[in-house]
Amino acid sequence: MTDKQTLIEGLNKDLAAEYQAVIMYTTYAAEVSGIYRKELEGFFQAEVAEELGHARYLANKISALGGTPATEPAGVPHHDNVRDMLEEVRQAEADTIKRYARRKDEAEEAGEFGLANDLEDMISDETRHREECEKMLRGSWK
Ligand SMILES: [Fe+2]
Ligand SMILES: [Fe+2]
Repeated sequence: MTDKQTLIEGLNKDLAAEYQAVIMYTTYAAEVSGIYRKELEGFFQAEVAEELGHARYLANKISALGGTPATEPAGVPHHDNVRDMLEEVRQAEADTIKRYARRKDEAEEAGEFGLANDLEDMISDETRHREECEKMLRGSWK
């Protein structure tokens, strides 16, 4: 069984990762270079709004559960190379999907069924992000 406190602690890790995603996509959009810059800048920028929406949702939920929302983002690794940026993003999305799948189980155990349902929607969002990255990484460019 997962108690409320454990659930809140997990959600705060998720929140730090969503803030990380906002900073990562913003930074990579600013720094991406090379002949695919225009495309990738647009792609990274488009993700910012969605990740910020996830962060807002989690901060609100943590507060509703009686916790204090985290304010420190997880660290963002710096990359000069476009392919490394996309690899970093793909891995971050894959990690987030795993965390949300675990959090969904914990939410159900804690009797937070609305949260479990919303986490499922977020798993769908993050899966879409991961798949877009994977498709771009499949290209023949270096
Ligand atoms: Fe997200
Ligand atoms: Fe994402």
